[in-house]
Amino acid sequence: MRIARRANDVSLSVTLALDARAKALMAQGRDVINMSVGEPDFPAPALVQDAACKIIRSGQVRYTPAAGTPALRAAVAKYLTESRAVPFEAQHVTVCHSTKHALSGAVLATVQAGDEVLLFLPAWVSYVEIVKLAGGVPISVPSRPDLGPDFAAIRRAITPRTRAMLLNSPSNPTGYTWSRKEVEELAAIAKEHDLTLLSDEIYRRLIYEGEPDCSPASLGADARSRTVILDGASKSYAMTGYRIGFVAGPPEVAAAVERIHSHLVGAPNSVSQAGYLAALETEPPEVEAMKREFDVRRRFLIPELQKLGLATPMPRGAFYAFADVTPYLDARGSTGFCEDLLEQQNLALVPGSAFGVDTHVRLSYALGLERIRPACERLAAFLASHPRAPAAARR
Ligand SMILES: Cc1ncc(COP(=O)(O)O)c(C=O)c1O
Repeated sequence: MRIARRANDVSLSVTLALDARAKALMAQGRDVINMSVGEPDFPAPALVQDAACKIIRSGQVRYTPAAGTPALRAAVAKYLTESRAVPFEAQHVTVCHSTKHALSGAVLATVQAGDEVLLFLPAWVSYVEIVKLAGGVPISVPSRPDLGPDFAAIRRAITPRTRAMLLNSPSNPTGYTWSRKEVEELAAIAKEHDLTLLSDEIYRRLIYEGEPDCSPASLGADARSRTVILDGASKSYAMTGYRIGFVAGPPEVAAAVERIHSHLVGAPNSVSQAGYLAALETEPPEVEAMKREFDVRRRFLIPELQKLGLATPMPRGAFYAFADVTPYLDARGSTGFCEDLLEQQNLALVPGSAFGVDTHVRLSYALGLERIRPACERLAAFLASHPRAPAAARR
């Protein structure tokens, strides 16, 4: 059967494909350490599980309004009002199946065919594809060597066709967390060029040091009027499989996403909405414990990578390290590096090429120290068996 061009142009998510490959090898009996995963290795909090079971047993698992239940929209608005320090109401919020779904809804609602959307490299795998699916043109902007924003490059990338910028802080894959000053500078650029700010804040509750995350929505009336927040329960509450998130922004954007989703999916899953509502109503004690554990791993892993000679900035947030493996690359780039590493040392990482930066690899520390320690040993053995290429032979 003929497949439409828009579908042919989309590639399968590299991270999901890699995760599947690692799991397939494990099923064959290989002791693979899977550091490619982008999900917390903790169960959802007990009160989330209880709320989900309760609604299933009540028999009231029904369609809800397309924008989510009034109770959940109000709870999200309250959470945003408290965490972003500006008032939100239910009309600013549309509940979605996930943050990914929220992002695709927001892009479909705000990006027209031919509109350019700036992505800051390294950028999460789905941004390029989601923008393309909506008919937009993704424009990749390189970052500074420490993986922070390069404002000169951002300014250079803006054209009369630029419509939006996609911010992700803390970032997947780097963990880089923008300072308030940096977000202010981006908001000023957005104002100057009349751009929409799509702000993916899914890792905002996982910041381990320094100043808290700053949403552009918190930076005054102008920034707020051009910001659409994408967030959800996957990382904050270890609720990846529940698939629940939201869009929050100007009421006309929330309403546009609601209209689109009313046809594409009808309504978000009512079981997951009940679970998310429970988590927002009562802070689950497991959340702080999970964050502490991620921090312990972060403090172990990054120095280990640095000891191996891999330039790896200390991330302030999320649960990833982004290590520079340039000296070890051959013509196959970071993909070849990861394929060989998996084959030879049973260690699964994600190639930086998936994020538009082919010189690096991403290591997730969403797995216990008892696995991270041997993973570092395997990586060390792999690097030792691949002596640093002389500069001239590098790509
Ligand atoms: C930056 C970023 N945005 C969005 C998502 C999607 O999250 P969800 O599970 O809510 O779709 C992820 C998941 O890996 C992510 O890393």
